[in-house]
Amino acid sequence: MAEGKQLLVTGGAGFIGSHLVRLLVKKYPDVQIWNLDALTYAGNLENLRDVENAPNLHFIKGDITDAAFLSDLFSRQSFDGIIHLAAESHVDRSITGPLAFVQTNVIGTVQLLEAARRQWADNLEGKRFYHVSTDEVYGSLGETGFFTEETAYDPRSPYSASKASSDHFVRAYFHTYGLPVIISNCSNNYGPFQFPEKLLPLMIHNIRQRKPLPVYGDGKYTRDWLWVIDHVEAIDTIYHKGVTGETYNIGGQNEWKNIDLVHLLCKTMDRLLDRPEGDSASLITFVKDRPGHDRRYAIDAEKLQRELGWTPKVQMAEGLEETARWYLDNEEWLHHVTSGEYQQYFQKQYGSRG
Ligand code: NAD
Ligand code: DAU
Repeated sequence: MAEGKQLLVTGGAGFIGSHLVRLLVKKYPDVQIWNLDALTYAGNLENLRDVENAPNLHFIKGDITDAAFLSDLFSRQSFDGIIHLAAESHVDRSITGPLAFVQTNVIGTVQLLEAARRQWADNLEGKRFYHVSTDEVYGSLGETGFFTEETAYDPRSPYSASKASSDHFVRAYFHTYGLPVIISNCSNNYGPFQFPEKLLPLMIHNIRQRKPLPVYGDGKYTRDWLWVIDHVEAIDTIYHKGVTGETYNIGGQNEWKNIDLVHLLCKTMDRLLDRPEGDSASLITFVKDRPGHDRRYAIDAEKLQRELGWTPKVQMAEGLEETARWYLDNEEWLHHVTSGEYQQYFQKQYGSRG
């Protein structure tokens, strides 16, 4: 990335966004990184504590659904690129409250597209709007097959429908206005800093506290897991080398049935906590299924590997152990995100600067 560039990252205080911001801040010291985040329950500036004083990192507290806020921001600051991750991201929450997903994932994305279109109207040269999306837009697979970039969209939860809708708007801005967009659709991420409502951190938290491990339905739902740092390295690669207007699938070639993954985690946790083998697995409890639960996701990431040379580096056993260790070593973080104490941290750290 060229010196003096201004890059806006939305959702940079969330799980994937914070890993991306860390990578960008360290790898491109001459690029100014603007982290725009509303700090919802899922956004936490403690995720970026190790880089918070970096001279090229700037935090802006704001909501992408707020047109007046975006208009003011874009009138004061020019951006060369935008990497858009801000979203409501949890499927279960989308089932109980779909409108928040429409608001942030659809309306918020369109507001951001509008802000970029207006700012870049006179000069699109060198600009890029990168939309970070999910494999869930493709729907659910049977026992075999993979999602490719050509797979027809078939979203089945309010979350995936909102992400599919945002993908369509991003493509519409490319075709209609020539906005230089690029999209990636990624499979399930895991690693440090993931909010403990998602499968792996929830299970780690419950194992530690000897609480039941709620496995939905028969537990034979399959996900393709990717180490979060492999994902943000893919985003960096696509942002810099990808072709405008194209879509790239990102995945780990790492399919696990939920129940098998939970068993592997239980074994890992027994070892790390010095508990007898089988101790954690005895907590597994099959519970009522998620409505409309997608049976299987699996990504074909061949295009990204062939055209841009990206490959995942971290194997599941290694990544899972690192994740488990991180949560065990960071109980304070877990306590803060579950108790809302990070809001106080924000006030203390940023005062009225946000
Ligand atoms: P997350 O829920 O951990 O973080 C989302 C971030 O967006 C939070 O920091 C939150 O404060 C912020 N945000 C939410 N609403 C906002 C708003 N209106 N304005 C400004 N900021 C707002 O999510 P994540 O898991 O890090 O996912 C990031 C992106 O990657 C999402 O777009 C998601 O759809 C996509 N994705 C996630 C996964 C995954 O496995 N987690 C996989 C593929 C794609
Ligand atoms: O595929 C990418 C998507 O992966 C992202 O776009 C989403 O933002 C992200 O949340 C994730 O969605 P999932 O629904 O696959 O993730 P979750 O961690 O909620 O669930 C993973 C699997 O585990 C899923 O089959 C549901 C199941 N599950 C989940 C929870 C929270 C359980 O069996 N028990 C649970 O308590």
